[in-house]
Amino acid sequence: MLKNIEVTEDLLDYIYNHTKPLHDVQKDILEHNKKLGDLQRMQIAETQAHFLQLIIKIQNVKNCLEIGTFTGFSALTMALALPDDGKLTTLDHDEKICKIAKDFFKKANLETKIKAVIGPALDSLRKISQEEKKFDLIFIDADKGNYINYYKKCIDLVNTGALIIFDNVLWHGDVHKKTINNKQTKTMRDFNEFIKNDNRIENFILPIGDGLTVCRKL
Ligand SMILES: C[S@@+](CC[C@H](N)C(=O)[O-])C[C@H]1O[C@@H](n2cnc3c(N)ncnc32)[C@H](O)[C@@H]1O
Repeated sequence: MLKNIEVTEDLLDYIYNHTKPLHDVQKDILEHNKKLGDLQRMQIAETQAHFLQLIIKIQNVKNCLEIGTFTGFSALTMALALPDDGKLTTLDHDEKICKIAKDFFKKANLETKIKAVIGPALDSLRKISQEEKKFDLIFIDADKGNYINYYKKCIDLVNTGALIIFDNVLWHGDVHKKTINNKQTKTMRDFNEFIKNDNRIENFILPIGDGLTVCRKL
């Protein structure tokens, strides 16, 4: 018998039908994103959303940072799981897309819990570093070519035991395929190799959605 089962669309439907339903505004964002066509693939998977909420609660996360807001699905998802006095800062350089996200945050009455910062993420991270603030969880889901740069900045923004989570690390399941050598796949392979060899963290790649690397700072 297989140790790891194949998760088909039908099985996913079953999983969602036997998991607590999403918040109404999470559902609204999913509906909005469906209308974006191919761009919809930018948003995290519903399975990942449930996982992020659970880990936030298990870890008692209070201060959260996100790189890659898009239309706000992952940001809203995480903010909903935070305690009342929790805070989420989310970074994105696309002002137009951030406006859409902010409208959804407002609709869910979470506009005071979520701070959206517009600008290139590395610049925003530089500014955040000067505040000497630490985060309990950082979720990274932006330009893959900067993943190593984001990691290098974020590792100093978390305390021991805190988590840094990266999306898309299995890159459509292509990372292990020797015949696939395009730039994006190689970028993700290099990142995965870098993380594996960094002794400041322990990590595991969770095969949900497009693959999540969960790093715990040692
Ligand atoms: C994959 S989407 C994020 C999806 C989001 N986490 C969700 O689940 O809805 C990536 C986002 O990163 C943003 N982005 C890409 N490069 C960036 C950069 N250098 N600085 C800031 N944001 C960036 C894009 O504008 C885009 O909205």
